[in-house]
Amino acid sequence: MAETTSPTGPLTALKLDERLRDTRLFFTQAVRTFHATGSVVPSSRALADTLAEFVRERPAPDRPLRIMEAGAGTGAITRGIAAAMRPGDTVDLVEANPAFAAHVEDLLGTDPELSKIADSATVHAMLVNDMGTDRVYDVIVSGLPFANFTAEAVEEILDYYFEVLRPGGTLSFYGYLYTKEVKAIIARREDYLRQARTSWLVQDWIDRYGIRSERVLANFPPAWVHHLRKPA
Ligand SMILES: C[S@@+](CC[C@H](N)C(=O)[O-])C[C@H]1O[C@@H](n2cnc3c(N)ncnc32)[C@H](O)[C@@H]1O
Repeated sequence: MAETTSPTGPLTALKLDERLRDTRLFFTQAVRTFHATGSVVPSSRALADTLAEFVRERPAPDRPLRIMEAGAGTGAITRGIAAAMRPGDTVDLVEANPAFAAHVEDLLGTDPELSKIADSATVHAMLVNDMGTDRVYDVIVSGLPFANFTAEAVEEILDYYFEVLRPGGTLSFYGYLYTKEVKAIIARREDYLRQARTSWLVQDWIDRYGIRSERVLANFPPAWVHHLRKPA
């Protein structure tokens, strides 16, 4: 395998090629379905590692974790989750866009970081709240672009997450910094008001269940990560 060096350490040509392929697919799908995709490039590794914090911290330290990732995209956050998983942990990767779901399925067979969890991961090509309630999770990591959704749609999704989370389980999700301020300038009034209602709803959930929030500047755009815990 050809190898080059970068300021951050050894970087294989193959790895760079894979990242470019992921970015190209992400961008193409974002142009087609921006409402559901919510960004034009995949998340950074820094954001992925911050979102996977509770896979590392383990809300249930004495047994394997059941994990769900909602909105797996091209697997950027999945890589952070995979790096934090321990033997016995399992993960459901849920992705509504069939092109992304097929790509992640493919990565589980070919990508050096993701093939490590191939036997513990299941890809579900569907909307997350169509997954049903006959399942239970210790950790949910959500990459869904709440800022693009109505408050009602976000509430339905948050209710679903808390229904399938075990008591004491955690939900980690993110939102981009300054979205409201940017929308105040460039968006139509109805869209600005829709997003303001969504952000009040999200803030209410953070106020009720939040245990930690952190800013991740090393992402495009920079993001807030919020960690919530379902009361035990
Ligand atoms: C902002 S992208 C994040 C992708 C990836 N996790 C990342 O960080 O690069 C949001 C992803 O959520 C998916 N998505 C949007 N709504 C969804 C839903 N209701 N259920 C499942 N996936 C959804 C989109 O197709 C898209 O891949």
